Formats: sequence, C-alpha cells, structure tokens
Amino acid sequence: MSRSPQQNEFVFFTRNLLKWYHAHGRDLPWRRTADPYAIWISEIMLQQTQVATVLPYYARFLSRFPTLRDLAAAPLDKVLKSWEGLGYYARARHLHRAANEMVARFEGNFPSRFEEILSLPGIGRSTAGAIATIALGQRHPILDGNVKRVLCRYFCVEEDPKKKETEKQLWQFSEKLLPRKEPDHYTQAIMDLGATICTPAEPRCPLCPVRNQCKAFEKGVQGRLPMKALGKRVPERDYVAGVLFRGKRVLIRRRPAKGLLGGLWEFPGGQVDLDGKGRSVEKKITEALRKEIPWRVDQWSPWGKVKHTFTHFKMTLHVYSGRSGERQGQNTDEQKWVDVEALSDYAFSSAHQKILLKLKEPTDGQRRLFS
Ligand code: ADE
Repeated sequence: MSRSPQQNEFVFFTRNLLKWYHAHGRDLPWRRTADPYAIWISEIMLQQTQVATVLPYYARFLSRFPTLRDLAAAPLDKVLKSWEGLGYYARARHLHRAANEMVARFEGNFPSRFEEILSLPGIGRSTAGAIATIALGQRHPILDGNVKRVLCRYFCVEEDPKKKETEKQLWQFSEKLLPRKEPDHYTQAIMDLGATICTPAEPRCPLCPVRNQCKAFEKGVQGRLPMKALGKRVPERDYVAGVLFRGKRVLIRRRPAKGLLGGLWEFPGGQVDLDGKGRSVEKKITEALRKEIPWRVDQWSPWGKVKHTFTHFKMTLHVYSGRSGERQGQNTDEQKWVDVEALSDYAFSSAHQKILLKLKEPTDGQRRLFS
C-alpha cells in the first residue's frame, strides 16, 4: 500500500530522527537507568531547567534520597535544601507530596498506569507521557517546550502554540509521529533535537537530520517560529500641553497630590480624544486648551510632539504654544508664571521635561522634541 505525502512526512521524521539519535544522542545519567523513580526525578528537574544545570543536582538528590521511600520519609526541609538554587521550588514540594502519596496509594511503588502517573502532584500530561514512555516502555506522546518548537517548525505552524486549537493540533502531530518501535528512544531523540539542533535562536539547520522535509526550513522562516503571542496591546492616549508665554514667563500648574505623577509641575493641558470623526485634530486640541485656559490667547499653534511610555499606556503629548494677554491667570500654590530660566527649580514629569529642553535649548531641543 502506498503512503500519502503526509504519511511520508511523518515516517521520514521518525526514521531519520531515530537514526540520528543512535549516532548523536547525548549520554545522560537518567538514560542509564530503568528505575522509574530516578527517571521521574530527572523529568521534574528538567521541566524548567537545562540539562547542564540539572546534572549535579540529579546526582546529589539521588545520593541523598536513593529510593521513593527515602524521599517520602525525609523532612520537607531537607528536600528543599537539596533543591536550593534550582528554582521553581513548588517542584520540590510536589515531589515530596507525590512520594508520600505513592507510599500511601501504591505501597511505595511507582505506578505503572498512565492515568495514575498523571494523577500525582506536579505531573502534567507531557511529563506523565515522558515517564510512561521512557521508564515503562509505553507509548504516550509528549509536548514540552522543545517539542512544540520542533513541531511548529517541521510542519510550519504559523499560529501561536499557546492557542487551544493550535496546541490540540500539535498534540495530534506528536501522537502521529511517535513510533510503535522504540518510542522511548524516539522521545529522548526529539528532546535532544530541540535542545541541541532546533534551538530557539539560530537553529543549526545544516546539522538537522529532518531538514529535507522541514516546511519552515523550506520557506526560510524557522527563525520566526514558533510564533509568539502578541503582547497585550498597551493603549495609546493623546494628551495636549500648552506652553503659554507672557513676556519671558510661562504658565505652569501643579498636578493634584494623589494619582499619576501626583504633585509634579507641568504645562497646562490634559487628555484629548482625537479618534472620533468630525473636527480637525488642531480644532480638537485648541478646544481642549481653551477649556484649561479660558482667557484670550493669541493663537495656539502646534509646536511638536513628545512620546512617552508609562507602564499601562503610551502617551503622545501634542505640544502647542501661545501668547497670553497681560494680567491673566493669578499666581497661586497650584499655578505660577515662571521665568523660563527658573523653570528648572520645579519638578516636572519626564515627558514635560522634554518640553523644558525645547524651551531652554531651542535648536538642540527642537530637534529632539519634534519626532
Ligand atoms: N528534557 C526533558 N526531559 C529530558 C530528557 N529525558 N533528556 C533530555 N532532556 C530532557
């Protein structure tokens, strides 16, 4: 019976990966044991930590807690101490709890059914699959970070792998690729491929045993995959600041003590909504300025823009300048007419400091202000 092109793609992957593994697979201590307990410890340590870091911890942990019963009987503090420096300490707490559960539920033996393994603390679907396959010779797919990356590239999955449907598809790929013969070697092989060849940055494609059928390699997009989720968009907001001159003085105001940038000085203005249709941007801005400065101003005109990023939004500050008539606007605690030379005595937010720069160093500042 002949194979469809897709079947060929799967068979090619599995065959070439296994061949490569037998020649180039890494010699790692947890590959020299058949003890499910030791393999479990290795898989938990390897969940968030690279092989090189794990090696000394793995050896030390097993010499301190050589069997599941030793681990269950040890005080949690001793287990945590053995984990010191490895990070993600919930892993150590889960190991300890799981060991005690296994003593209680399975007479101190590591369980042999996939569902039982999966039911233990700290073990998700992929880790349960790895342990069942590597330690017990069963056939369960895995989908850790390395495998996701390899599959996204090989099948050129141009979707965020964190998306539910994409993840489901990747599990299906992982299941279909897993061979009936040597599923244990195959599982170690795909981990090695992800860790040593199909690396996140600058994958070493010339050395890859499956590059001839790799869809991402064919399209030259392997460096862009897997796709990253678009970060939550930071909202963009428009603000206006009016630099109002009266002779050599300019008007500044103090922000309310509470809230964003509380108590800092700034040029009068505030948020403006420039999104709607209708009047021009300039009209909307001058209208907003008129609300802030209700007296007569000799022509508000655009002076430049300042961009500034806060933690929760991006600000575009539209800076306008104008001339005020004499004897307008009283000096108070919250509002002052200040000589341009004396402005640096006041605390301004960094966005408004950019306006100061323009005021004090017209040419240089102007270049920086106008974006
Ligand atoms: N990462 C997770 N499990 C691994 C294993 N068994 N060998 C190498 N890297 C791994």
